[in-house]
Amino acid sequence: MTRIYFNDVVTRDGFQIEPNFIPTDDKVKLVDELSRCGFAKIEVTSFTSPKAIPMLRDAEEVMGRIERMPGVEYTVLVPNLRGAERAFESRADEFNLVMSTSETHNLANLRMGREKSFSGLAEVIRYVDGRTPINVSLSTAFGCPMEGDVPQSVVEEFVQRFADLGVRGVTICDTTGMAHPAQVALMANDLQKKFADLQLTFHFHNTRGMGLANVLAAVQSGIVRFDGSLGGLGGCPYAPGASGNISSEDAIHMLDAMGYDTGIDIPRLIGLARELPLIVGHSVPGQVAQAGSTCDLHPAPAYVAELR
Ligand code: COA
Ligand code: ZN
Repeated sequence: MTRIYFNDVVTRDGFQIEPNFIPTDDKVKLVDELSRCGFAKIEVTSFTSPKAIPMLRDAEEVMGRIERMPGVEYTVLVPNLRGAERAFESRADEFNLVMSTSETHNLANLRMGREKSFSGLAEVIRYVDGRTPINVSLSTAFGCPMEGDVPQSVVEEFVQRFADLGVRGVTICDTTGMAHPAQVALMANDLQKKFADLQLTFHFHNTRGMGLANVLAAVQSGIVRFDGSLGGLGGCPYAPGASGNISSEDAIHMLDAMGYDTGIDIPRLIGLARELPLIVGHSVPGQVAQAGSTCDLHPAPAYVAELR
């Protein structure tokens, strides 16, 4: 059975565009519950400027209060050196650096060009100096909502440059849901051939309904690491109309049904997804939590017994 490693990003990617501040207690409780579901990794928060992302201004407190469960990696988004210092103090298991493969999206999201981002992140990697594993998330790798196509060669060039700096992994992000399965298969095949020693993760958004189809294309091409967000929450604040990440429970339910080993307690995960609307104050897009798992059978109507 192929083992799949899932990283839930709801408390970072999912929460960062929520309009109302989510209390620190709720964030801590949710991360602890996700740990109990069996996720391989949880992106807990981000050490960005509290002015840029006020929702995550409690990053230190959340990291200080969560239970560290064996077997779960607690990763955090780190945008710059200041973020790396804060992440060290909080004893994060991994630093997730981020930049965009599209110049325009990088300018919109991080307020600087790609080369400036790259050299800033290279400085962070040198500063960390192997003390904590580093992952780099490359945004808009399948297309940019402002520029359109992002050539795969550009994505590969950034993967190569980060690999040369010794990072452990790279996440290929479809930040605004523009990827389609044929493109995903091509990207997955080429990257695995060229970067056999890197941990490759794929990160999809379901903005145009292609999220699970893209997971399928990636998994059938040999990718075993995915990001997802409980309930399908999330979205890039700098892409008009951008909507949620793929729902962790929908993707995990699908992969489990297909015979993959996800390591996740699925009934527990679905139960947790059902609590999410109470935390964020609105309904969420995930579907399995609404319909129930395919294993949850319903009683037949009474007349069926009479007809038998
Ligand atoms: N942690 C805390 N504060 C930080 C910080 C960090 N990692 N990085 C910058 N700051 C503070 C600075 O201290 C400064 O504060 P001041 O105005 O009180 O002096 C302010 O933020 C601006 O600093 P500056 O160095 O000019 O950074 P910037 O404004 O260019 O910000 C980013 C750069 C990337 C840190 C910021 O834009 C950011 O956090 N953006 C959010 C990116 C993001 O998470 N997007 C969504 C996910 S992809
Ligand atoms: Zn995302």
